[in-house]
Amino acid sequence: MTWLSLIFVIYCLFMAASPSNAQFRNGCYNAASGQERRLCQIKRSLVERTAVAPSSGSCPKGCHKHGVCNEEIGRCDCPRHYTGPSCSDLAPNMAQLCAQYSLSLRECRKESECFNNCNQRGKCIGGMCHCQPGYWGMDCSISWGPNGKMQLLEGNYVPRKTGVKVYIYELPPNMTSWFIVSHLDRPLQFLFWQRLMSSGMRTLDGNEADYFFIPIFTRGALVREQFKWVLPYIQTTFPWWSKDNGHRHLIIHTGDMGINDLGLVVQRQFNSSLSNITWLSHWGLQEYHPVARWDRAHRPGKDIVIPVMIMTQGFHQSPMNPRMEAEAKANGGPLVRNGTLFFAGRICGDGELPDPSTGKCGPGHEAYSLGVRQAVYLHHRKTKGFKIVPWTNSYLEDISTHKFCLAPVGGGYGKRQVLVSLMGCLPVLIGDGVLQPFEPEIDWSNFSIRVPEQDIPDLPRILNNVPASDVAVKQKRLKCAAQHMFYSSSLGAILGEDGRYDAFETLMEILRVRKAHPDVPPEKYQKVDERFRKFVKCELDDSEEVPLCTQGTELQVEGRKSCKDCRHKYGVGASFFSTAGGMLCCESDDMTMCPRAWA
Ligand SMILES: *[C@@H]1O[C@H](CO)[C@@H](O)[C@H](O)[C@H]1NC(C)=O
Ligand SMILES: *[C@@H]1O[C@H](CO)[C@@H](O)[C@H](O)[C@H]1NC(C)=O
Ligand SMILES: *[C@@H]1O[C@H](CO)[C@@H](O)[C@H](O)[C@H]1NC(C)=O
Ligand SMILES: *[C@@H]1O[C@H](CO)[C@@H](O)[C@H](O)[C@H]1NC(C)=O
Ligand SMILES: *[C@@H]1O[C@H](CO)[C@@H](O)[C@H](O)[C@H]1NC(C)=O
Repeated sequence: MTWLSLIFVIYCLFMAASPSNAQFRNGCYNAASGQERRLCQIKRSLVERTAVAPSSGSCPKGCHKHGVCNEEIGRCDCPRHYTGPSCSDLAPNMAQLCAQYSLSLRECRKESECFNNCNQRGKCIGGMCHCQPGYWGMDCSISWGPNGKMQLLEGNYVPRKTGVKVYIYELPPNMTSWFIVSHLDRPLQFLFWQRLMSSGMRTLDGNEADYFFIPIFTRGALVREQFKWVLPYIQTTFPWWSKDNGHRHLIIHTGDMGINDLGLVVQRQFNSSLSNITWLSHWGLQEYHPVARWDRAHRPGKDIVIPVMIMTQGFHQSPMNPRMEAEAKANGGPLVRNGTLFFAGRICGDGELPDPSTGKCGPGHEAYSLGVRQAVYLHHRKTKGFKIVPWTNSYLEDISTHKFCLAPVGGGYGKRQVLVSLMGCLPVLIGDGVLQPFEPEIDWSNFSIRVPEQDIPDLPRILNNVPASDVAVKQKRLKCAAQHMFYSSSLGAILGEDGRYDAFETLMEILRVRKAHPDVPPEKYQKVDERFRKFVKCELDDSEEVPLCTQGTELQVEGRKSCKDCRHKYGVGASFFSTAGGMLCCESDDMTMCPRAWA
């Protein structure tokens, strides 16, 4: 035994014996009492936030005055109103630049809310965390460690023992934080990033990474220009792409048409790179659709369809929320789903209502929803037990009192399959060639009804013929399936769930199985991977319940807090982004202390 390994053994013995270190390791939430936990947190924040190695000075001189030095690559990151190699020049054309990010000139320069609250290691100015010297990254979480390696949150970051490791590219802020995260309508890629941090699945070392996440914002006018810039940038700046031609690179895409939003010119130009990146998108069209004339966007076996992030409040009133169930029972029996099929929403597409007497939409509306909403309305606006309308003022009530709810696509992806699942209404899926979220990894036939487009006229017979026992079994399964469709660890619970089977965890499970069984097609994952099979059924037994806060104030799960309370901590205007790491971390200011169901 060399002296080095001897020291290592002694060190390990010491670590194992020291109770406070063991506590740190598991996060302070494991402390026996609330009092102990608070002490643990205070101790930890005092002891461990000072361990910063001095800056290596890899950036041009003066960078820190207005900017932040990314010391890994020597890039000086500027706030919106400064520019130049050391961020010392005032940016020209500010009005134009701010408009690109949908901001007024004033909003553009001032202090605001930043991603993960800059982890209390910086101040948010001009769309960027202005980190304390020695820290860098989108949320100031990176610094040099004593061993000369980069570390997250001063080495307090505890990696998860199981699961995959994901490397996140720290792109210049014009691609990431210059967008005001809480203003974005579809900020999923940032919430995913937050959760990677709090889940312990982020790594700074590309050599040990299983996947590489490119956190580009994929909505709006800037997407093509930014995409054209970002691919060559990561391919030439970092060594990771060339390790395996980008085959384990991930992009989260929240635009309506998935990869096709890039347009043909960009797709042609980057065809070779694009064929290697995995697209995580909401749009599951896997073959050309002849009626809509929409091209396929989803590449089976390569891409993964992920659920839309439903951010509207109010879903804690779902009949599947145990509190609601109990309340309904107390008020004269559970809710009766005596209606057959419900749909309310756009029928012809933007800005046109169908003619109620003929049931038809005007010309030019054939492609919308692959023609499905139009056809269902045409045939069934008067069918008994069906409610198919462009609008209703009793939306949640209607979803709660019908057995089946139509879940068509829209102008690209649709979100109804997620929305109605959360409300316990069995989704009726119509849209040929369209895969649903996490399909085929999860078998949707277990908890939904799929109808080919050509059978739309026959819907009443098809739905009325589903035996009551089948309906009951599917409804029961929906309680689990709905958990996979909602990002509860980011947004708070709505069904009494604690987030351990939520959409984030489901995606990470799929990525884990893909890595373990690279040659198995996704529809076979449940066959080859016992853990995944149990996960899909929400039946894993090696996990601990975590204290996830719940949405709403009045309908709380016994012993859980309302997420509103944690938002109030941060004052007026705080959004869910104020809580670093997602709502799961609501009770701690430091995301290394977030609870975890899986160590
Ligand atoms: C974003 O910022 C980088 C670094 O400052 C710059 O080189 C690039 O041109 C910018 N890209 C776009 C699309 O604005
Ligand atoms: C990309 O290349 C593949 C063949 O490698 C081809 O089938 C496909 O049409 C190309 N896509 C575009 C958009 O050019
Ligand atoms: C994509 O992958 C293929 C096959 O592994 C490889 O030949 C090609 O060079 C890759 N494209 C890029 C841009 O790395
Ligand atoms: C369902 O039952 C309620 C009350 O029992 C009634 O008001 C409603 O009209 C019924 N709906 C259908 C579609 O039969
Ligand atoms: C769903 O269906 C598949 C077969 O299609 C089956 O293997 C699986 O166990 C089912 N899951 C549930 C939750 O019933």
